[in-house]
Amino acid sequence: MATNEAKKVARKPDVLRTFSKEVTEDPAVLFTRLRGECPVALQEGTKGGSTGFDNGWLVTRYDDIVAVARDTDTFRQNIRWPSQPRPPLEMDTPDHRAFRALMMPFFTPAALAQFEPLSRRIAIELLEPMLAAGGGDFATGLARPLPAQILLARINQPLGDWPAIKEASESVYLQASTNPDDRRRFDESNEFLWDYCRKVVEARKASPQPVDNDVVSAMLVAQIDGKPVSEHLIVGMLRLLVAAGHDSTTSALGICLRYIATDQDLQSRLRADPKLIAGAIEEILRLQPPVIQMPRIAARDVELGGRQILEGDKLHLVFASGNHDEAAFENPEACNIERRPNRHLSFGTGVHVCIGNGLARQEMRVALEELLARTKSFRLAGEPTREFWHPYGAVALPIAVDR
Ligand code: HEM
Repeated sequence: MATNEAKKVARKPDVLRTFSKEVTEDPAVLFTRLRGECPVALQEGTKGGSTGFDNGWLVTRYDDIVAVARDTDTFRQNIRWPSQPRPPLEMDTPDHRAFRALMMPFFTPAALAQFEPLSRRIAIELLEPMLAAGGGDFATGLARPLPAQILLARINQPLGDWPAIKEASESVYLQASTNPDDRRRFDESNEFLWDYCRKVVEARKASPQPVDNDVVSAMLVAQIDGKPVSEHLIVGMLRLLVAAGHDSTTSALGICLRYIATDQDLQSRLRADPKLIAGAIEEILRLQPPVIQMPRIAARDVELGGRQILEGDKLHLVFASGNHDEAAFENPEACNIERRPNRHLSFGTGVHVCIGNGLARQEMRVALEELLARTKSFRLAGEPTREFWHPYGAVALPIAVDR
C-alpha cells in the first residue's frame, strides 16, 4: 500500500497553475470558479512569489469552511515558527481554550468602551489636517496610524512606538520573497518585533501594571492547570498581537474608506443616518475581506468535499470565498448594508474567531463617523495602490474632500 508521502508525490494539482497573479488581480473571479467547479482544490505552491501562497487545499464553500474551523480535532493550527508558537492562534484545544480565556477580559465590550474616546480623539487629530488641506492620502494619514496606536494603547505601550511597529509588521510580509534585500528586511523586522515583545515582558516583570488593565501583567501571574503560564508563550502572544492587532484593521479601514469614497449614494445615506455605519462596515468587509484565508493542518486522513485529504496536508480556509457563497448569502454580490443576519467570515469562525473583532469594529466605526460628520462629500482623487499582503487593502489612498 502506498504511504501518504508517496500519495502526496503522485497527486497532481487541479484547476489552477497561476494562482497568485489571478488572486492579486481579482480574487473574486477565481473563487467563484472554484466554488462551482472544484470547491476543495489542491493548489500548487507559488511560495517565493510576491504573495507567498503555498501548497495546500483551498476550501472555498461557506459550509465546508465552517465545518473545518469547528472540527479542531481533525484540523489543527499551523505554527509558523515551531520553536516559538504565537498563542492563542497557534495553539490547539484544549490549551487554546484556557489561554484565550485569560485574554478575553481585555476584549469584552466593557473593556473596549474605554478605547472609544481615545480612538475618536486620534481619528480627529489625524483627519483634521487632511480635511483642512482639501484631502490627502488616507492610507498613510489615517488607516496606518490609527489601529497601530490603539493596539499600543491596549498593551500599555507608548503610542509613539507606532511607526517602528507598523513598518516592521509590514516588512514581515516579505518572508516569502526570494529577493535578498527583502529577505534581509524580513529578518531584521521580525527580530525587531520579537525583541520588542521580549522587552515588554521583561519590563512588566520588573514593574507589573494593574492586572485588570494589562494583558502581559495578567498573564505573568495567571495559572493554567495549576501552573504558571510560560514566559515563552506570553512573548509569543504579544508577538501575535503586534502583528494581528493592527495590520488587518489598517487594511479594513482602507477598504471601507475606498468603498465609501466611490459610492456617493451610500455615503449620503450614512451621513444622513450614522446608525447605518456599523452595518455598512460589516457588508463592505464581507465583500472585500482583509484576511483572504487562514491555514489548518490535517491531523488524520479525512474526506472533504469529495477529496481525499491526507494527514499532514495543509488546508486554506478561504474566508474571502465563503463570504460570496450563494448558498450562504442571498444575492451575495450586492452591497446590502442592512443584511441581517450577516454571518460573514472576515473575522474567521469557530474557536479561533478574531479576539479583537470588537476593537477593530469600534475603530472603523469611529473613524467613519468623524469623517462623514465633518464632510459634505469625499471621493477618490487618484488610483489607490494596493497592498500585496492583504490584496484588497490600500497602501496609498488619495481622497479629496468637500467640507
Ligand atoms: C478588521 C480587522 C481584523 C480582521 C479582518 C481580523 C481577522 C482575523 C481572522 C480571520 C482571525 C481568525 C484566524 C483563523 O481562524 O485562523 C483572527 C484571529 C485573531 N485576531 Fe484578528 N482581525 C482583525 C483585527 C484584530 C485586532 C484589532 C486584534 C487585537 C487587538 C486581533 C487579534 C486576533 C487574535 C489574537 C486572533 C487569534 C484568536 C484565536 O486564535 O483564538 N485581530 N483575526
